[in-house]
Amino acid sequence: MKVTVVGAGHLGATCANVMAYRKIASEIVLLDIEEGVAEGKALDIMQSAPTAGFTSLVIGCTNDYEKTANSDVVVITSGIPRKPGMTREELIGINAGIVKLVATNILKFSPNAILVVVSNPMDTMTYLALKVTGLPKNRVIGMGGALDSSRFRYYLSQATGEPINDIQAMVIGGHGDTTMIPLARLATYNGLPIATFLSEGELQDVVAKTMVGGATLTKLLGTSAWYGPGAAVAFLVDSILNNQKRMIPCSVYLEGEYGASDVCIGVPCIIGKNGVEQILDVQLNEEEKEKFAKSVEAVQNMNQDLSSVL
Ligand code: 2OP
Repeated sequence: MKVTVVGAGHLGATCANVMAYRKIASEIVLLDIEEGVAEGKALDIMQSAPTAGFTSLVIGCTNDYEKTANSDVVVITSGIPRKPGMTREELIGINAGIVKLVATNILKFSPNAILVVVSNPMDTMTYLALKVTGLPKNRVIGMGGALDSSRFRYYLSQATGEPINDIQAMVIGGHGDTTMIPLARLATYNGLPIATFLSEGELQDVVAKTMVGGATLTKLLGTSAWYGPGAAVAFLVDSILNNQKRMIPCSVYLEGEYGASDVCIGVPCIIGKNGVEQILDVQLNEEEKEKFAKSVEAVQNMNQDLSSVL
């Protein structure tokens, strides 16, 4: 199976590397607009094959969309990452034009691809990609919830002292510092409610840390994170390419689900070979419904800024 990653920055290259290491795709194309960057990172990844033991073919190219032809999945990471103190939403002015161009170019050579959008502000960029390509909504997926849920699980593991992989937790809503909704009520440790192990104060502290998980890393790194996001994208692509039907919170176009329409935002999805196979209706309580509605409103307000590119 063939996957193209557009944008060979830290995140895109990490995603390609993880997909190669985990043998998720047999062919991976890294594309960037900066001369040599994608070629160099692809070559460097390939030279780890002998010791890493993978057989995937990773190639790089500079703005040559012909090399991306007939991709099964295309990951869009292109655009600028945020700097310390910036919100993801502040990137829209620059990234919207880039994502529109990339999505249009990709579709010329891979009309049957499933798009995974990572560029920020991710929910709005996913909406933009859906509108400019006209693809069916099951084939335009925004990756944010998978990453935010990973961070939620990490912070819950740190707070409880329990193994991270025994912790199950999900984040829905927007992929924004104030719009995401860590579902603390539904988090579990080995199937038991997490509230059994943490006080309400400890739980709210974990929720707060999760919501700014990206900003915390940007402050430390001076730019957006890449290991967690890259691995989260690979996890999502794996579920698509290998039809794993995993339940992954993704930003997808809603048409009445969760009481929202004409918006791309994070909801629990079954992800398989057709992309979004199903949107799951998790029974939210009144407080969660209210938070979700506010998150939808914030993302839809952000989408208004797309008028110049749509
Ligand atoms: C993050 O939260 C890049 O939005 C991504 O790290």
